[in-house]
Amino acid sequence: MAKRIVVASGKGGVGKSTTAALLGMSLAEDGKKTLLIDCDAGLGALDLLLTPSADTAYNWLDAALDECAFSDAISEIGPQLFLLRAPAARPEDLPEDCLCRLVDKIADEYDYIFTDAPAGLGEGLKRAALGADTALIVATPDEVSVKGAGKTDEILRGFGVSETRLIVNRYNAKAAKKGKQLAIDNAIDKTYVQLIGVVPEDPAITACSVTHALPKRTKGRRAFARIAKRIQGENIQLTLSLLK
Ligand SMILES: Nc1ncnc2c1ncn2[C@@H]1O[C@H](COP(=O)(O)OP(=O)(O)O)[C@@H](O)[C@H]1O
Ligand SMILES: [Mg+2]
Repeated sequence: MAKRIVVASGKGGVGKSTTAALLGMSLAEDGKKTLLIDCDAGLGALDLLLTPSADTAYNWLDAALDECAFSDAISEIGPQLFLLRAPAARPEDLPEDCLCRLVDKIADEYDYIFTDAPAGLGEGLKRAALGADTALIVATPDEVSVKGAGKTDEILRGFGVSETRLIVNRYNAKAAKKGKQLAIDNAIDKTYVQLIGVVPEDPAITACSVTHALPKRTKGRRAFARIAKRIQGENIQLTLSLLK
């Protein structure tokens, strides 16, 4: 049975889709069969980041409406890595648990299933969170983002997600030292969420919103690879010096 993980945040644009894509790539490289589900209807960020072959035009809404078999809506991205696209428009009049019920049916075919939540704390987050056992809450080291992370934690627990972990993304050691970003300890204290990893600011990650080629060996990519190991239960130490 797959471990089901929702990637969420209070504030938008903090790196949820990047997190889902790079953790998915890392877990797949570790031999874990991983499905990424894009829940950000209308945006399709995972589609752009992962550039799947055009082997299917279907998305999870088509499967929910029985317009295709669920398996026909899933694209193979690479060895052990699969993508279920988001619909082009926000679905209306659908039960909140429609995606969760679809995923229940295929959960034993994967090791990990990630849902990449949309921004905001409402219905879209709930759809992505239902059925997940774990949440990765992504925050950048600033006051608004960490406040949003704390709020997201509360809401996710209300949706039945029992384990929540914080990823501090776009950490910049120099900026933190100069007081221009929150220090890691401060960010954790303000969210009350247990930390699973810190990802540095990485220009190669920013560039991929234009190049559509996710980095393979940069410092940001390595940080996600370490988080992927922690998700698998390995005891990988958090060493801030690795992030510079
Ligand atoms: N660690 C990082 N270093 C540099 N840029 C990043 C990093 N993480 C995310 N970004 C950039 O931040 C922007 C928002 O990321 P995205 O994953 O789309 O956020 P969200 O899904 O939360 O809206 C993108 O341009 C992405 O490339
Ligand atoms: Mg996104």
